[in-house]
Amino acid sequence: MKIAKTLSVLGLAVAGISLAGCRAGGENPGLEYAPQMYHSIAYEPLSQITDEENQGDVISNREDGRGEFFNSNINNPHRMNMREPVANTVPRNKEGYLPYRLKAFELEPAALIKNPVESNEAVLAEGEKLFLQYCNACHGKNGEGDGLAGAVIGGVANLKGGAYIGLPEGHIFHVITKGKGRMGAHGSQITPENRWKIVHYVKQVIQGASSAAAPAAASDSTVVVAQAETPAK
Ligand code: HEC
Repeated sequence: MKIAKTLSVLGLAVAGISLAGCRAGGENPGLEYAPQMYHSIAYEPLSQITDEENQGDVISNREDGRGEFFNSNINNPHRMNMREPVANTVPRNKEGYLPYRLKAFELEPAALIKNPVESNEAVLAEGEKLFLQYCNACHGKNGEGDGLAGAVIGGVANLKGGAYIGLPEGHIFHVITKGKGRMGAHGSQITPENRWKIVHYVKQVIQGASSAAAPAAASDSTVVVAQAETPAK
């Protein structure tokens, strides 16, 4: 009994003393356990601290003795944290599309872009789902400009109406992407591939046979995708 009591008092004292060692204050930086967890050094792409000694070396816990804030990547040329892209290359997005660089008013070059997504039953079904999700509120289920929100906004295009029947696919893609007049841009909400699926649905189902003459997707999808996002002027 006595021994157990003595031991627990001793244990408490040891714990107390060791915890007190952690306290920082005044000149005392305190004691840290697993300092590398607290002071992990991240490569930050837009910053580069190259001074190995003087940047925070006072508080540094690095095993290599460098300053705390030294964050250059010594494996890259000029110790850069972010490498430059390979010369003469353009980054593609996750889906393999090149950046869409046309401005909202550039409808003419947009009209030349061909639909890179090949149409089939599944694509049309998907297009319908997306149309109901994103366009129905204004354009209505059948695209006749009679959606519930459309009634409030007013002036919504009837996609079955005269002039709209002949709209090229690229034009519709562009309008979805950038918006037009009172129609907002949907580019940030719908992926390019899904936008092209909606275009198929609008041309083939909503506008029906009148758009049957629309050019089909070319066979080489890479070339078409390249054209799709960077049309020749
Ligand atoms: C917030 C309501 C709204 C939504 C949602 C909406 N539109 Fe529109 N849309 C309009 C209005 C309003 C116009 C007429 C724009 C103008 O010419 O001022 C229009 C015009 C159009 C045009 C004709 C463009 C032209 O050149 O005149 C097309 C094509 C079109 N929309 C397709 C779509 C598709 C596809 C979707 C779904 C991805 C969609 N819209 C979603 C309101 C909307």
